[in-house]
Formats: sequence, C-alpha cells, structure tokens
Amino acid sequence: TRTAVGILGAGPAGLMLSHLLHRSGIESVVVDNRSRGDIENTVRAGILEPGSVRMLTGTGVGDRVLREGHEHQGTSLRFDGVHHRVDFKALTGESVWLYPQTDVFTDLADARARDGGDVRFGARDTAVMDAGSNRPGIVHTDAEGRRQEIRCDYLVGADGSRSICRQEIPQEHRRHYFREYPFAWFGIITQAPPSAPELVYTHSTRGFALISQRTAMLQRMYFQCAPDEETAAWSDDRIWHELQQRVAGEDGFRLVEGPITEKTVLRFRSFVAEPMRWRRLLLAGDAAHTVPPTGAKGLNLALADVRILAELLERAVHGGDDAALDSYGPRALARVWKAQHFSYWMTTMLHTPPGADPFDMRRQLGELRTVTGSESGARLLAEGYTGWPDRVPE
Ligand code: DHB
Repeated sequence: TRTAVGILGAGPAGLMLSHLLHRSGIESVVVDNRSRGDIENTVRAGILEPGSVRMLTGTGVGDRVLREGHEHQGTSLRFDGVHHRVDFKALTGESVWLYPQTDVFTDLADARARDGGDVRFGARDTAVMDAGSNRPGIVHTDAEGRRQEIRCDYLVGADGSRSICRQEIPQEHRRHYFREYPFAWFGIITQAPPSAPELVYTHSTRGFALISQRTAMLQRMYFQCAPDEETAAWSDDRIWHELQQRVAGEDGFRLVEGPITEKTVLRFRSFVAEPMRWRRLLLAGDAAHTVPPTGAKGLNLALADVRILAELLERAVHGGDDAALDSYGPRALARVWKAQHFSYWMTTMLHTPPGADPFDMRRQLGELRTVTGSESGARLLAEGYTGWPDRVPE
C-alpha cells in the first residue's frame, strides 16, 4: 500500500489526525495492535476541554458529546473538610465536559468507518521501516496472516506511552525528560448515583481523593495509594471506609456507596520526548509526552498536537512545504510544557508525599487557600483546567 501519511496507533490522537487529514483530502492508513474492543473496554479519563469538544463537533465527528456528555461549569477543591468551588465559567467564560475518553474513541472510530477510512485494528508483528528515509513505512501481519507493507511520505507515531516510533529517533538527536512520583491512584467504578454535581478534588491528611462521575448510575472515583499497592488487598468495605474518611468534614459530606465493579492501580509519571519531528517521522500524543492524571490533560494535549500537525501536514503534502513541519515541535511543545506544569502543580498541591510533616501539610493548605481565596488565584487554575485561551479558532 502507498499512502501520504502512515499512522501508528488508533487511539484518539491517531484517529483524529486521520479524520482531519481526510477532511483536507489527504489519505492515511492507521495501524494498531489492539482490537477495537480492547481499546473500548479500557477505562480512561473523562474530562474534555472546550477546545477538544469544538474539535469533535466542529469537524464533523459528531455531537454525541453534547447530547450525552455533561457540561461542568466549575469544580470543587475540597480541603480542611469543606468545598471551595472554582467557577470556570465566571472566571474564563468556558466550561469543560465530562465525557469519557472511550466515547471519544468510539465517535472517532465510527467517523473514520463512515468516511471509508483505512483503519487496521488487531494488527500483529507491527514494525517501523526506514524511519530516517524519504519513504518510511509500517509493516504488519493482517488477520489472514498475510504480511502488509505501507509506504508513506510521512510517518506519525501516535502509538502511546510505550511508543516504538519514538525509539526510531537516534539517541544523539533526542532528549527525554522525566519526573516520577512516590504515589499512584487507586481507581474504581461504582454502581451508584452521583455523590456531587461536579468533580471534587480532595486534599486530606490521609492523601488525595477525586470524586468523578460517569452516568446517572455509574461513578468514577480515585484515591492516592502506594505505587506497589495490590487491588486484591482492598475489599469494597475497605475502599469505602478509606474514601469516606478522606472526604469527611464539618459540612457532613458523604459519598453514596454502591457495588464496586472495577479496581485498578494506575501508576503515572511526567515525561516529554524532544524533538517531536525527526526527518519524516512525527510524534503525537502520549508517544511524545505523558502527564500525571490530576487535571485530565492527557487526551486534550493529544488532540491539541494533532490539530497543529494536521494543518502543517496539509501544507507539506498539498503545498510541497516540507519545512512547515519544522514548526510542529516548537508550537506543540509550548502547550505541552504548560500542561506539564499544570499537571505537576495540581498533583503536588493535592497529594500527600510519603513522610510529609506538619509543615508540608500546612504549606499545602496555604497554597490551596491562595488559589481559592482570590479571583486571580482561582482564574489561574481555571485557565489551565479549561485549556488556556490560545486556541486556534475552528
Ligand atoms: C477523571 C480523571 C482525571 O484524571 C481527572 O483529573 C478528572 C476526571 C475521570 O476519570 O473522570
């Protein structure tokens, strides 16, 4: 097969890129090792920035996000046992949408199928060919056991945090930046009605907890745990006891309990790979950067990358302007590093590091009061959470 753009990874980054390129009349082929069902059954984060929502509704992916998602005009930072609301709408004019990433994936996969896109799920023995050449490619084995070779003008690695494309950039041309955290998240899904109308990011002496939602009868919650925590050690009763203690306070706030249908320990880190372009290879989304989950920036950053990339690939493929792609990394990374800072800030402000002493706890409370106690402080958080007002108009 010959195509203009070969894309490894059919997550939201790869599929959205393929969709945007199609709208510009540029062909692409998307290859993923996972089956469509595997991707759809993995629980991921659930908050979309308004810019991400506009990408879905404004480019013809669909408006299910508006019909089935929930607009959240603010969030609660809970500390000292009481809620402190940050009103995104009043502070920035913008809201976020609660809409699971798996639904974004489904919408994009459906849109690609509707438009006749070449998206190959369940590929095996996938490898990159001649990444540094003028005619890079992807090889894989298809469902019938046949070897398939895709040659392309540009190769995009949208293949997630364990990217194989990233490894193709020679060591002397790349730089990786990391930050590890001494904690992880214990994530659950429970069959219960919502405990709160908006998300609740909770600071407590027992550690962080996040109360999120999914539907009228399914809720998503997380609590800070040790990176090597075992889900087997946590009965439903033990989980509810821990969560209730973390959110408890003088206002009497209680979580509505129900059966727990999913328990997962999520380890995380901060990571950036530079550059995002090397010759005809381009990285997008988690392949180039991952953030800790606090603030739900991962998917939104991936979509912001491919919005820039689609525009520049159009100039390269249709206009013959290969040099336009040189600005991809610098443009995308400006936002990436802001999001790195935001996610690091939200994480360190709200979590209790092992060995934290009373100074650390009181300083964090001082920081939280600085943020929620002034309009400037709250607006800084609201701008980051809703995704900064430097969006390219659709
Ligand atoms: C969710 C996850 C996050 O990391 C976050 O900051 C907010 C919400 C979620 O899964 O609902």
